[in-house]
Amino acid sequence: MKAAARARANIALLKYWGKADDGPLNIPAVGSISITLDALWSDTEVHFDGSLAADELTLNGQHRPEQLDRVRRCLDLLRGRAGVKRPARITSRNNFPTGAGLASSASGYAALTAAAAAALDVKLTARELSIVARQGSGSAARSVFGGFVEMHAGMRPDGSDSYAEPLMPAEAWPLELVVAVTARSEKQVSSRAGMTRSAATSPYFPAWVARSPVDLKQGREAILKRDFESLADVAERNCLSMHGAAMAARPPLLYWNGATIACLEAVRELRRGGVPVFFTIDAGPQLKAVCAPGESAAVREALTDVPGVVDVLQSGLGCGVEAAIPDSG
Ligand code: PMV
Repeated sequence: MKAAARARANIALLKYWGKADDGPLNIPAVGSISITLDALWSDTEVHFDGSLAADELTLNGQHRPEQLDRVRRCLDLLRGRAGVKRPARITSRNNFPTGAGLASSASGYAALTAAAAAALDVKLTARELSIVARQGSGSAARSVFGGFVEMHAGMRPDGSDSYAEPLMPAEAWPLELVVAVTARSEKQVSSRAGMTRSAATSPYFPAWVARSPVDLKQGREAILKRDFESLADVAERNCLSMHGAAMAARPPLLYWNGATIACLEAVRELRRGGVPVFFTIDAGPQLKAVCAPGESAAVREALTDVPGVVDVLQSGLGCGVEAAIPDSG
């Protein structure tokens, strides 16, 4: 009853920010569109072991009992389907900074769900896997798939139509990503807490939700037509709208630092100079620059020179989650 899975991080080009309800189903208030990355991943092993007293989670070599409530939401759904009660030992490792706005929960919960399903021999479709992963982390529903991925907010109160699905394969438009890391520490306010606060207190939150279908339509069409200009336009606007709604919350949420803004200016400068690149920023201070195929060297060089940038990561587009049962099983 042991299996491992690797899932890659994803970056939303059209953001998920806000939940339809604050219950355990974790249904998003808005749909989202992301790209799955090939260079940033989580490797997670799940071992259901009758000798354990309770579930145990080790993340990057450290015990993280505070994360177990969320982890159990996914595990209990799968244990229920398998008719198994055994506790699990979960060992997970990210090859990139954890909890700093680099989508570690997306890859982490996608890998956890796939590994646990494989360990329990529960056969799920990719869509079902996406629905279970969503209940650990909304963005994890997208990391089940590779390339360009769309997550549907859904309408049903049971969450059965809130899942992600592939929009276009990575090979159809191999965009490149450069991440400017401006802080290595874990963020102060998790995206989950930030969303709840934005929805409850930001006067701009209803406008953010109302605008989302228009942005999703433009983003979807831009991707399918490989229209970089249109995608850049809608992705930057959508990102700033999300942060605008967060900044207007009480107390305000400001995920950026000075270097984040300096990177944003650098990306705009590059675009004015003819480089096809746009920025996006999640619930953290890192800036993600998305560029057309073959353009990442120039973008990397420019972002490396920005004062306050402590590291620069680069990635192409990657595939969906992969699970394996070890031979020694
Ligand atoms: O999946 P969560 O709960 O970590 O939320 C992700 C939220 C953003 O990264 C800010 C946006 C997104 O769509 O990934």
